[in-house]
Amino acid sequence: MEAETVAKRFIILGFSCLLLSISFGLIASLQYIFPGLLADRLSFQHTRPLHVFLAVNWIFSCVTGIVYHYIPRVGQRFLYSVTLARVHFFLSLATILIAIGGFLTGHFSGREYLEFPPWVTVIIVAYWLLFFTNFIGTVKPRLKGAPVYIWSWCTGLAFFLITITEAHLWLLPYFNHNIIRDVTVQWKANGSMVGAWNMLIYGTAMFAMEQISGNNKIGYQKTSFAFYFLGLTNLMFNWGHHTYIVPASPAIKQVSYIISMTELILFANIIMKWKKGLLKAHADEYMLSTRFFKSADRWILLNLGLAIAISIPYVNLYTHGTQVTVAHAMGTTIGINTMLLLASVAYIFEGMLKPVAKKYVLAGLTTMNISLLVFWLSLLAAGVVRSIGQYEHTYFAKVSANILPYLRVFSVAGVFLVTGVCLVAFNMLAVIVKKQKAVPLPVKERKTTLQ
Ligand code: HEM
Repeated sequence: MEAETVAKRFIILGFSCLLLSISFGLIASLQYIFPGLLADRLSFQHTRPLHVFLAVNWIFSCVTGIVYHYIPRVGQRFLYSVTLARVHFFLSLATILIAIGGFLTGHFSGREYLEFPPWVTVIIVAYWLLFFTNFIGTVKPRLKGAPVYIWSWCTGLAFFLITITEAHLWLLPYFNHNIIRDVTVQWKANGSMVGAWNMLIYGTAMFAMEQISGNNKIGYQKTSFAFYFLGLTNLMFNWGHHTYIVPASPAIKQVSYIISMTELILFANIIMKWKKGLLKAHADEYMLSTRFFKSADRWILLNLGLAIAISIPYVNLYTHGTQVTVAHAMGTTIGINTMLLLASVAYIFEGMLKPVAKKYVLAGLTTMNISLLVFWLSLLAAGVVRSIGQYEHTYFAKVSANILPYLRVFSVAGVFLVTGVCLVAFNMLAVIVKKQKAVPLPVKERKTTLQ
């Protein structure tokens, strides 16, 4: 199995997780409206963790595949070890299967978002170390004076190891026996883990943007590095906005509120500038990828507005734990993370897509954008109605009845969202699974060889 095949396998694994995730998400959304649906075998208590775990694994598997595809090009040498990458793939697959098997049979342990047995984390840490070794071994020649995406990937890889360890500190009595310490550390770990996967994804986005535009200065620009340092600060400190309800030090909350707003503004600005500087010929050649980047840019701005609003402590007090939080989580993971991942996948495989398949992918993207907007707004509306109900101490049953119309809209929009994702995923998968090599990067063709 070549390096290219390992990269493809990770991307295929990612798409499989995505398709399974949205299927469970759809069932979960229907269970909002019909609470008795599949109650005996696959209740909401099963479908929610299955959906979320698989959505997170879509992100990790896909970004891993993209990084494996990019690093030999960045390092301008073969992958350090195909064997390590192969072991990494099989361990990842085994972990996903163990977790799904456990969830389906009702075996939940661990904490929210990581509901698999804690011992599985040992496998995760082991394969992540293999990934890290392969990464460093491959990009070694470029480590001196490295472009921003190498810094981003390196940071994402290191912080994932730190945060997954932190997320399991609850196993120690020192944390487990103190509710404030426990909740604070758990949410710090979860918040920073999102920061770690953002670092990996933003690195892939920077590299793809550099290659598409043929401007190899992007990786060295001051704004790109400013964005990296801001991302790093966010990763380390913005988790405080997850813990407003915990009576911890107010300084933690104030610092996190100020800095959690900054990251998205700068990244939106980088994409905007990139769009402006993009030559028409390059935008046409990478039409699909460019369209995914443009969508991500719009979703960054929308989610930024929401993040600013819900990070105001007084607002957060009422919206926390309502559908507003779900809108924030899904708005960012679909609108930003998924769009940026699809931009890279499109960049890698666009040359292999037939014109008709490109049309379907574009139709899928448009469907995703429109349905996601309705989906997101209906969740927000449901969350606001619920927050008002909480504020007025309305009975839970009455609040639930009040939000039902919005949840119906959410479910219908979800059907269209699933359709859009399927159009994109199946058309891309059709070329990815073919036994041909991905189109070589245009680095040399454009005479913009990396320095
Ligand atoms: C790219 C696709 C998707 C991603 C990445 C994604 C991601 C997520 C994440 C991260 C959460 C956890 C939210 C939280 O903890 O606050 C979540 C929850 C959820 N998602 Fe999705 N999602 C996707 C698509 C869908 C679709 C298509 C549907 C329905 C048709 C759906 C329905 C749900 C439901 C019902 C929940 C549970 C919300 C709750 O706990 O009340 N998702 N999703």
